[in-house]
Amino acid sequence: MAKEPGSSKFQVDLRGHLRSKGVSNNLTHLICEIADASKYVINAVRTGDLGVAGTSNLYGEEQLALDVLSDRIIRKRLIHSGVVCNIASEEMETIYQAKANAGGLYSVAYDPLDGSSLVDVNLAVGTIVSIFQGPELLQPGRNQVASLYILYGPRVSLVYTVGDGVHEFTMNHLMEFTLSRENITMAPSGDIYSPGGLRNKYLPGVEQYVQYLEAKGAKLRYSGGFVPDINQILMKGKGVFFYPMLQGVPNGKLRMLFELNPMAFIIENAGGAASDGTRRILDIPVEGLDQRAPVFIGCKEDVAKAVEFLNSAPT
Ligand code: AHG
Ligand code: MN
Ligand code: MN
Repeated sequence: MAKEPGSSKFQVDLRGHLRSKGVSNNLTHLICEIADASKYVINAVRTGDLGVAGTSNLYGEEQLALDVLSDRIIRKRLIHSGVVCNIASEEMETIYQAKANAGGLYSVAYDPLDGSSLVDVNLAVGTIVSIFQGPELLQPGRNQVASLYILYGPRVSLVYTVGDGVHEFTMNHLMEFTLSRENITMAPSGDIYSPGGLRNKYLPGVEQYVQYLEAKGAKLRYSGGFVPDINQILMKGKGVFFYPMLQGVPNGKLRMLFELNPMAFIIENAGGAASDGTRRILDIPVEGLDQRAPVFIGCKEDVAKAVEFLNSAPT
């Protein structure tokens, strides 16, 4: 609990909140270290070089200097935290072993700067983090002990869950995260939709789903950044994001380990749902760092409707 200078308002900080939720010392330490690292990431985003790094990642995507820098900032923190054994990042080809002895420690998968190409056009980007207990990173997302994202927008916010509600913190003028919304929940159905991928490559079921959403008056809201797009749906408490299977691209674009599992854990904890069209995202076995899946994520009834359209339309 910190008192705002010049104000009588007491604010709950991230560490205090984690403690109040009964989160272990090690996990509290880990989440606070990641939150701390984000101060350096936002500094890099605001002032860093916008050029390419001259290297490519596991997916053959050109790495930007900012991707590489953000990756290093977070990895270094994770290693120095002393409570992390295995680390996987969207920008690393293999799992990095920080500590051989996994007893009581955590493993972390993260996307250091999701949507990094949007920095160029001054749109919002984010960091996404998934945390497991023990050494195993390749396992279903339902086993996560925590997940969080940090959104670098006009303000910097951090949203986390440890399976006990979803909570938002906003960075104040001292660069501390203080509680801004607690126990965020989603309505059963919404009126915003964020559709990823080329519409002329949609399968008939997805196309019918879009028409259904439009007919019920849903507004299109898509920035091209997974973190701000999900954040909008979550904070408004209503809506659905999807990056579906496309003709010739059955697994869509987004990655299980770095993007889908952590976001699905947050959205489910807020009362929403996440599906690949047939399976719950959090139940999908994860076999590789580069595994991707289609996704329909957001309000429960909207996700169920997507599944219904996909299963009844010809493929
Ligand atoms: P990344 O920048 O980490 O590669 O991920 C970008 C993702 C995500 O932020 C967004 O939802 C999606 O790509 C957008 O893809 P399209 O440009 O194909 O819509
Ligand atoms: Mn990404
Ligand atoms: Mn990325």
